[in-house]
Amino acid sequence: MSTPIKPLVAGNWKMNGLATQVTEFAALVDGYSGMEDKVDCMICPPATLIAALANFSQESTIEIGGQNCHASATGAHTGDISAEMLSDAGATSVIVGHSERRADHGETSEDVNRCARAAWRAGLVSIICIGETAEQRKQGITLDIIGEQLLGSVPDDATSSNCVIAYEPVWAIGTGLTPTAQDVADVHSSIRQSLVRRFGDEGQQMRLLYGGSVKPANAAELMGVIDVDGALVGGASLKAADLLGILNAYE
Ligand code: PGA
Repeated sequence: MSTPIKPLVAGNWKMNGLATQVTEFAALVDGYSGMEDKVDCMICPPATLIAALANFSQESTIEIGGQNCHASATGAHTGDISAEMLSDAGATSVIVGHSERRADHGETSEDVNRCARAAWRAGLVSIICIGETAEQRKQGITLDIIGEQLLGSVPDDATSSNCVIAYEPVWAIGTGLTPTAQDVADVHSSIRQSLVRRFGDEGQQMRLLYGGSVKPANAAELMGVIDVDGALVGGASLKAADLLGILNAYE
């Protein structure tokens, strides 16, 4: 029997948050206290806030993550940030392959694979995002797309300690729309099967997050789906009260 997977709720602040946003983080640290045994918590702020939040979170078990990294450690890549820099600032994880990166910056699964390995080179956990568009769902090819992205984006030496997979249907991100619990169950079960085929026990133990319009009102239902081991939360992670409402799904 495999050991139960401890859930993770990770907040992705995207391009939101000035120094004043640290007060929301402080409220999260307060509210999260006492929940540590049931659910892990992480915030991925913009790079400008990583050091401040990492410093603040020394009083807490809340982890800090980056939102993206370059595949190289250093070099002439104006405006980019490396996994080593994220780690140096206090991050312990990094999101790679978010659909907004794939869409806005043309990142392919091969690029995402390189970024995931860059994260490991720097000692970070990579949170690898995959998900179908509305058009692909309409065409009935969701599981094919998910399978392809998984194969291309997840490197061969992924383990349950260095890798988290986040299933985020592109059409559910920031729209208030969510798949049904059955649709989420179908995709997560397909992801699990493909990870187990490829990685054996490590695939069985890898955390699979659901992301896309997770809110306090739908968290319990979505988090209750088999093989959903937590959430990647965008909009609702900006307010401590909302993220705490989602974390409360594990109370
Ligand atoms: P959302 O974003 O919760 O605002 O839909 C999720 C994400 O992009 O990670």
